Amino acid sequence: MSEWKTVIAGLGSYLPEKVYTNADMERMVETNDEWITQRTGIKERHIAREDEFTSDLATVAANRALEDAGMSAEEIDLIIVATVSPDMHSPSVAALVGNNIGATKTAAFDINVACSGFVTAMSVADQFIRTGFYRNILIIGADTLSKITDYNDRATCILFGDGAGAAVLTASKGEGGVLATLNGADCSGADKIYCDGLRDPKWCGEEKAQTHKRRSLWMNGSEVMKFAVRIMSNATKKVLEKAGLTTADIDHLIPHQANMRIIEGARKRLEVAPERLFVNLDQVGNMSGASIPVAMCQAYQQGRFTKGDVIAIVGFGAGLTWAAAAIEWSK
Ligand code: UT7
Repeated sequence: MSEWKTVIAGLGSYLPEKVYTNADMERMVETNDEWITQRTGIKERHIAREDEFTSDLATVAANRALEDAGMSAEEIDLIIVATVSPDMHSPSVAALVGNNIGATKTAAFDINVACSGFVTAMSVADQFIRTGFYRNILIIGADTLSKITDYNDRATCILFGDGAGAAVLTASKGEGGVLATLNGADCSGADKIYCDGLRDPKWCGEEKAQTHKRRSLWMNGSEVMKFAVRIMSNATKKVLEKAGLTTADIDHLIPHQANMRIIEGARKRLEVAPERLFVNLDQVGNMSGASIPVAMCQAYQQGRFTKGDVIAIVGFGAGLTWAAAAIEWSK
């Protein structure tokens, strides 16, 4: 049995410069700041330029994470990018990032589990590192949801933003690191959130086909919300159990940043004190795969993590999927 553990060696993130405030949303669709604030908690979201794509955001975040880890791109064995808004169908965003950063000795692939993406990438990477298969893995959550958003649909466009967050994971025989991970899916909920592609958008009924822009995100918001509160609390409890811990051990809860009502619902079910919860949703909106790593990176840069702290990260998203990880901060 290998004794390797996965530790976080570096974190980095990037948000595009342009910002859409709630006042900007009011100019696009029939909505208002009060509705958006009360129903979601969102005030602003960052939006990529027309010529700025997911791999561009991911590249900046990756370089920042490598710098934080004090590592060069040549030392990376594998790049995993979690995204639902790749620059193109093929090649993967991971391959584009690998080329951009000069990772010449790496393997590279994307995973598509929407907002559960970064945590799933951590879980996959953890398997490779624990077995001794790879030593250094760069995982990135990056999305430019603005490119697949219908800005005529007020039920979705007010939610989404763009960004990227990256972590350099490395093999260690020391203390802490990734304690446990879990991944799950309820595939019967595949029609609850989707972005049509090659397949006819009528796949999920006439509503999207008739009223929505092609290749844009559609979702059944209220059903997703109920699922999200339940699954975020259950997955967090289970992953802590796997790590031999309880929710009382959580120093930092970093959930997927989709809606303040979902986050608060999950926090209350988990009985985690408000000061242990990290939220940046108000400033960035829902960035799918980028939400958790950007939040984690911001919390780290604000000096919130101390060696030995237990961090629980948990995401849910299209699929319907979920993923959670318990981490002991060791940097
Ligand atoms: O990360 C991926 C997963 N996605 C999510 O986590 C999203 C989960 N769902 C949500 O966050 C919420 O369901 C939404 C924020 C999308 C919607 O909130 P809600 O409390 O579920 O509202 P609703 O869909 O039940 O709509 C309530 C009312 C409706 O009007 P009527 O039918 O009551 O007259 C909507 O038409 O609010 C209306 N509405 C709006 N009003 C002003 C919907 N969007 C807007 C809007 N501004 N932007």
